[in-house]
Amino acid sequence: MCGIVGYIGPRACAPLLIDGLRKLEYRGYDSAGLAVIDTSPTALGEPPKLGVVRSVGKLGKLDDAIRERPLPGNIGIGHTRWATHGRPTEGNAHPHLVGDVAVVHNGILENHVELRNELVALGRKFLSETDTEIAAHLIDIELANGAPTLLEATKLALSRVRGAYAIAAVSRREPDVIVVAKSFSPLVLGIGDGEVFAASDVPALIQHTRDVIFLEDGDICELRAGAVKIERLLVHGDGSPERITVTPVVRHPRRIDWSPAQAEKQGYKHFMLKEIFEQPTALENTLRGRVSLDDGDINSGEIGLSPEIARSIRRVVLLACGTSHHAAIAGRNWIESVAKVPATVELASEFRYRDAIIGEGDLVIAVSQSGETADTLAAVRDAKRQGAHILAVANVVGSAIPRVADASLYTHAGPEIGVASTKAFTTQLSALLMFAVWLGRRRETLGEDRAKQILQRAIELPTAMREVLDLADACQKIARRQIVATEANHCLFLGRGLSYPIALEGALKLKEISYVHAEGYAAGEMKHGPIALIDAAMPVVVVAPKDHHYEKIASNVQEVRAREGRVIAVVPKGDTTIAELAQDVIEIPDVDPELTPFITVIPLQLIAYHAADLKGTDVDQPRNLAKTVTVE
Ligand code: AGP
Repeated sequence: MCGIVGYIGPRACAPLLIDGLRKLEYRGYDSAGLAVIDTSPTALGEPPKLGVVRSVGKLGKLDDAIRERPLPGNIGIGHTRWATHGRPTEGNAHPHLVGDVAVVHNGILENHVELRNELVALGRKFLSETDTEIAAHLIDIELANGAPTLLEATKLALSRVRGAYAIAAVSRREPDVIVVAKSFSPLVLGIGDGEVFAASDVPALIQHTRDVIFLEDGDICELRAGAVKIERLLVHGDGSPERITVTPVVRHPRRIDWSPAQAEKQGYKHFMLKEIFEQPTALENTLRGRVSLDDGDINSGEIGLSPEIARSIRRVVLLACGTSHHAAIAGRNWIESVAKVPATVELASEFRYRDAIIGEGDLVIAVSQSGETADTLAAVRDAKRQGAHILAVANVVGSAIPRVADASLYTHAGPEIGVASTKAFTTQLSALLMFAVWLGRRRETLGEDRAKQILQRAIELPTAMREVLDLADACQKIARRQIVATEANHCLFLGRGLSYPIALEGALKLKEISYVHAEGYAAGEMKHGPIALIDAAMPVVVVAPKDHHYEKIASNVQEVRAREGRVIAVVPKGDTTIAELAQDVIEIPDVDPELTPFITVIPLQLIAYHAADLKGTDVDQPRNLAKTVTVE
């Protein structure tokens, strides 16, 4: 999730662009850069200079670089990078300059491999590993082929790409325009007095203007100092000119009344709530470009392991901590149920201190949002030393655990600011599900039809997730009634099968942000002790989706009710059996029984969030906790 900015107007743009990028740092910053057209006078007929400065690391490094190499001019674009393709290096930093054109981009071009191969075959030389540089080459090629303007060249170039982009381009040959376009990645215009801003998000421009235009997918715009032209780009076929339909559109600016602080959270009260609501998009971004529905498979290049390794694996051992450990439990279930490969899951903090038997033939999957968790890193190093093959599932490109691993499967959740992990969790689930399908297809233990069915239903999940997010108010009422008003000091979460890690995750969310003691338990274990805890003061959250555990968990609910426990039940839409027994019910849409974790976790996240918010705890920065535990 990168951040892009653009400015065209009467003012010197470099300071404005840097300040705009600083307001987008929450979107990730492993590198950054600016491209500015130097509008000072040039020799007759000589086009203006297009200066590009890039740096690795935090924005302060870019500031330093610009001080050494000033970029005069009032037209420019900028970028702060959160790597998805290509390591965080200066060569991979944006803007990418090809010929007279500089480009910045936020998103993922799904067909980047085939396009790069095509361009290399045409003799094009690439200086980076990024998909963005491809877009710069495509625009440059269209200009060389006679496209009359940067806008027209960009339309033709974008007709060749598939995937998500918010893109901005400038050319020294047209030193009075910026071209921007949007498809599945956010892009907003700020309309000032004789000046126009473009940015990934409102915080980057709100201190200059509150009149904004939220662009829509398919919009492509030509920005001039006092004017904006917006068109709708519709691509029909292989992108050749006659297959492009362009229609002018009128978008009226709307007035934003957020404070700058609110703008960073896009109007949400906390980053955690924003990230809960980002989950459908984060899932779409993590699946994007990796799922091949036609063959019911996952693009092998995205997994990073060879088919030979897949076929030689004797056992999979998943290692993780905290929320990532809960995702790993679901991953273990899928690796066995979908790929039919033996799998175990362990707390990294336990694994590293016991004399674990591991080595050749074992594949370790290290699951970690930050990629920096000390216990997970140490466990992975130990397993690697003993000969195991390592796959990292991480959210931060180039972090420590992927650097130790033999291969990495990145979640594209974007930076997760709230200490309590939410969108990282659901994207970890999607990465582990993709791996299980890929493994099953390599070992021929998963048939093509079932694989297609799982992947098709996975791609449809964001719709069901958005439906559950619409129940946020109901979840707030439950949190108020069952946790806060009763001043509950304890809460039990129960689940079976794939709902067992969801029960664990729901308990962790509640305890870590609301400070209410909560425990997740395998529902089948109730009779082995926890049932002694049940009384009228104990809220019990039961995760009961439509799967083969439903009848069993319904009897657990009866046991709880027989002891006057208060039941909050997550049940299938239209359920009557459990619903009649429970005090509060959250009805969720039916999804494939293998995919219920993506849906059942959301009400638990929302209940925990609202309980904490109502109790007035520091939701984004809970006491005693850090976002990344790099100490042991
Ligand atoms: C989850 O809400 C917590 N913040 C914590 O348990 C976290 O999942 C754990 O520290 C592991 O972090 P990682 O995913 O970055 O390795």
